[in-house]
Amino acid sequence: MNGYNVAILGATGAVGSRLISQLAQSNIPVKNLKLLASARSAGKVLKFKNEPLTVEETTPDSFKNVDLVLASAGGNVSQKFLPIAVQSGAVCVDNTSAFRMDPDVPLVIPEVNREALKRHHGIIANPNCSTIQMVIALAPIYHAFGLKQVIVSTYQAVSGAGQAAWNEMLHQAQQRLNNEAMTAKITPVKGEPHHYPLAFNLLPQIDVFEDNGYTHEEWKMIHETKKILLDDMDSPDIKVTATCVRVPVELGHGESVYIEVADKKATVAGLRQQLTRMPGIIVQDDPAEQLYPQPLTAAGKRETFVGRLRADEENPGAFNLWIVSDNLLKGAAWNTVEIAECLVEDGLI
Ligand code: A2P
Repeated sequence: MNGYNVAILGATGAVGSRLISQLAQSNIPVKNLKLLASARSAGKVLKFKNEPLTVEETTPDSFKNVDLVLASAGGNVSQKFLPIAVQSGAVCVDNTSAFRMDPDVPLVIPEVNREALKRHHGIIANPNCSTIQMVIALAPIYHAFGLKQVIVSTYQAVSGAGQAAWNEMLHQAQQRLNNEAMTAKITPVKGEPHHYPLAFNLLPQIDVFEDNGYTHEEWKMIHETKKILLDDMDSPDIKVTATCVRVPVELGHGESVYIEVADKKATVAGLRQQLTRMPGIIVQDDPAEQLYPQPLTAAGKRETFVGRLRADEENPGAFNLWIVSDNLLKGAAWNTVEIAECLVEDGLI
């Protein structure tokens, strides 16, 4: 193979721009790259490895002769086009939630469950951003000590809601600094009946509400964690509960994670050793030096940063962790491109 014909679906978005740069830095030999978006962006020129490329409107014909599709244009767009791409012979790595719970679709964090790629039927799903950074840290702890329960509260950056929401939050901040009333048409969730400013605020709603009062983002964290670690989205073997909050941060999600492991003799030192050995994790944990992960220092990095490791002194076998990662890189574009690198290395395209 002297290179692959690659298409990026959603190339003009917040994740799409990073898919372009992560692909440029990857070891995937690219013969031809197609940049696909909606009709609104057709004709726009973007760069790949300093070469100008014109964005095309996505149509069913866009996928002819394409070997690999990296998709991040929303669930409906993936639902519509990825089956067509697979039909015409492409392998698709999808960053949306469209196919994540399909039993035939592997849900993959390469450092955690790379072997699941072997079972793909044309589509591989990239997990939700907040799931990825939590599960890459929990996987080595689970394998060493067993995992009984996870209680997570997230602090999620606005970029996870897309470029338009990000722009809107910056505008709200400017309005506040100008002593004007802040306005909101997108935050917290595009298409919902009510909108509230995110700047200088906290919004405990990411994605739509389910009937049980959880948001769909919280649902995703619960069931994706089980699918990745236990290969069963409804497994009772690890109990997971989540509260997801949008915070006025541009890039980088934070997560406060409380876990109960099976091995009551587990120690902070033991957890730290497992995390230090895990590829893709950097432990940043030194209270004496005030060293701990922060969104500003994690932005632009591929790794996931873990700190504030503490034992719950009133509950043996329980621990607190603070996890931060760039939601558009490990949470989205880098994990997607890393999956594609593994597919190439393992001869699965
Ligand atoms: P466009 O810029 O033409 O609207 P974000 O997550 O930052 O909001 O980005 C969403 C991405 O998905 C953009 O690249 C956007 O393109 C693309 N997109 C949205 N709707 C469609 C569609 N119907 N067909 C193809 N791409 C789409």
